[in-house]
Amino acid sequence: MITLADLQVSSLGPCRYDSPLASYVADRQTNEYYVSEGDRVLYDDTIDLLERRAEPVERSPSFEPGGPRARIFHDPATTHVGVVTCGGLCPGLNDVIRAVTLELYTHYGVTQVTGFQNGYAGLVPQLGFEPVSLTPGLVGSINKRGGTVLGTSRGAQDPSVIVDRLVELEIDALIVIGGDGSMHGAHKIVEEIGRRGLAIGVVGIPKTIDNDIPHIGQSFGFATAFSEASKAITAAHVEAESAYNGVGLVKVMGRHAGFIACYAALANHDADFVLIPEVPFALDGENGLLRTLARRVRAHGSAVVVLAEGAGQELMPATGKSDASGNRRLGDIAAVVRAAIEKDFHDRGEPLTLKYLDPGYGIRAVPADAADSVYCARLAQIAVHAAMSGRTDMVVGRRRHRFVHVPIPLVIERRHSVAPDGDLWLSVLESTAQPLDMS
Ligand code: F6P
Repeated sequence: MITLADLQVSSLGPCRYDSPLASYVADRQTNEYYVSEGDRVLYDDTIDLLERRAEPVERSPSFEPGGPRARIFHDPATTHVGVVTCGGLCPGLNDVIRAVTLELYTHYGVTQVTGFQNGYAGLVPQLGFEPVSLTPGLVGSINKRGGTVLGTSRGAQDPSVIVDRLVELEIDALIVIGGDGSMHGAHKIVEEIGRRGLAIGVVGIPKTIDNDIPHIGQSFGFATAFSEASKAITAAHVEAESAYNGVGLVKVMGRHAGFIACYAALANHDADFVLIPEVPFALDGENGLLRTLARRVRAHGSAVVVLAEGAGQELMPATGKSDASGNRRLGDIAAVVRAAIEKDFHDRGEPLTLKYLDPGYGIRAVPADAADSVYCARLAQIAVHAAMSGRTDMVVGRRRHRFVHVPIPLVIERRHSVAPDGDLWLSVLESTAQPLDMS
């Protein structure tokens, strides 16, 4: 159970400087959408949830609101900010790099912005990746491109070497754009900074197409990714319904969380089965995939099955391998399901036209769509405000339409996933009409 103490954000110290945005912030005090320094954003947002806590509202868990502060910790004239992108690609990385740089230059007058190349590796001098000076001219139109102009990599680096590098370059705040693994790394950097008693802030901007970061509603790039994935589902549907006994099989990314599969399927209502890591399914048996798929094809002439890559891992031997971020390497569920469907139709003497689509990296290598671009820009601005105000060990996020600060320890203690008894999964079941229980 989350408590108010869990949501307290760390700070480097008292804010001694007027923000260049101070007058703008002051003018907004009467605006109902503005959240002032002393205000909090409630964790619970229904009367039932609040009443269940049976404690005064000021002691109920609440987040620090994101946004510009009238007073800031760092002196913009001397502040040096570092930016690094870590982990797998995600639409919008360049939008974030651009917006961070522009916000620092344009609104705070900070002119020392350094990009570290290839993830945390760029903070390890021995690996030879030169830092890049980020300027408005350099970031001008990078948002039109997919990927990250800074490059990225997976895997941790020694926090002590990283902090040495931050000290050497006189970095005051490091902005880490990354997912779960990167935020674990960011927290280790914060701990090392703390051990040395330094005033260097670390602020995260949560990135992952898997949308598996808790407490923040949605990670940037997710919407673009599922919208790309939905195109593969539409194509599978067209192929399947145009064939006799057509089956479209689509595998999308989503290692531990089935959000991409669920949202991509809901986007067009073309899927008949959505299989995700959070909800086990069987191949055989009356409610297993093979029997229900056969019934669906008999009734409708065709069917579409959407698989998240992490689904059904219990149906095959574990690979026993992991990637540089420490993530378990998954078995190929699509190969297992495809072979099982082909064998089943063959054994029953039924013809089958099966088309397999794997949009793969294509869903995350694209530039952000307009909605994600706006989200990226706003997250980046909120992250800069947080960094300039001396916040540290936190990520920015938007939760139920409010921008908030979330302590890193809270976002790395678990992964966000699709709740099998939640409303998203219910929507998927309503949309596909697949059996409630396929295990
Ligand atoms: O974590 C996001 C993600 O896109 C996963 O959905 C996918 O399994 C993984 O990254 C692939 O990453 P890599 O770049 O290491 O192949």
